[in-house]
Amino acid sequence: MSEIPLPLAPDTVGLLEGLTTTRSIRRYLDEPVPDDVLRDIMFAATRAPSGSNRQPFRFMVLTDSDRARQAKHLVARGAQKIWGSKRATDGYDDGSGVRDDSPKARMARVMQEYVDHFADVPVMVLAVLVRYRDATPTEGASVYPACQNLLLAARALGYGGVITGFHAFVEPELRSLLGIPEQSLLAATITLGKPAGRHGPVRRLPMRETVFGDSWGESVPWAVDPPGTQVMTTRFGSDNPPSTGPTA
Ligand SMILES: Cc1cc2nc3c(=O)[nH]c(=O)nc-3n(C[C@H](O)[C@H](O)[C@H](O)COP(=O)(O)O)c2cc1C
Repeated sequence: MSEIPLPLAPDTVGLLEGLTTTRSIRRYLDEPVPDDVLRDIMFAATRAPSGSNRQPFRFMVLTDSDRARQAKHLVARGAQKIWGSKRATDGYDDGSGVRDDSPKARMARVMQEYVDHFADVPVMVLAVLVRYRDATPTEGASVYPACQNLLLAARALGYGGVITGFHAFVEPELRSLLGIPEQSLLAATITLGKPAGRHGPVRRLPMRETVFGDSWGESVPWAVDPPGTQVMTTRFGSDNPPSTGPTA
C-alpha cells in the first residue's frame, strides 16, 4: 500500500440500500483483499460509536503471514467442531433437511463448505474489546457496532463477510498465539473476501412482529414492510435460505 494517505474509495451503494441488503457472505473468491480496501473497511469500523467514546475496540486483521495462517487453521478447527455439533443438535439432517433442495439442507451445505475451507478465507478479523472495568452484560455494545460498520463497509466496496463466534472453541490457544491480553473480550471472528456465487435478499420477520408501539406485542399502523420485502415464514434460522455469494 502507498505510504501517501489515500482518500476513501467512492461508495456506490447508498446507505439505506447497504443497510437493508447486506447478507452474511461465507464463500469467497480465492483472491486477497488489497491493503487499500482493508484500510477503508477498517477506517469505517473504527468510526463506530462506543460508550463515552472510549473506543475500547481493537482489531487484529489476519491475512497471509505465517502467524495469520496458523491463527486461521486454529479457528478452522474450532469452526468445524462448533458446526459439527450444531449440525447434529439442531437437526440439520432431519425433517426437511433430508430434502436436498430444502433451505435447511442448503444452509447445511453452505455451512459445511464454509468451515471445511475456513483456513483459506482471504481475511480473518478478530474483534477484541479491551476492558477498562469488570465484565458487564452490556459491554459488547461498545464493540459490535464497529463489527457491523466493518461488514457494511465491506459491502460498500464490493466485498462481503460474516460475523462468527468460531474462536470460542480455541480461544486460549488463539490468545496465546497472537498475544491477545487476558483482560479482554474476544468478541467476534469476522471473515472477509470477494464474494463467490449468488445470494438472495435479506429475509427477516415482518416488522409487525418486531416493532411495537406503547403496548408490548402490539404493532403500529406504520410498521409495514416496504413492497417486495422478503419475510421469513418461520423463526428458525435454518429455514432462512443461506447466502452463497454477493448481492445480485
Ligand atoms: C452475534 C452473531 C453471531 C453469529 N455467529 C455466527 C457463526 O458463528 N457462524 C456463522 O456462520 N454465522 C454467524 N452469524 C451470522 C448469522 O447466522 C446471520 O447473520 C443470520 O443467519 C442471518 O443471515 P443473513 O445475515 O445472511 O441475512 C452470526 C451473526 C451474529 C449477529
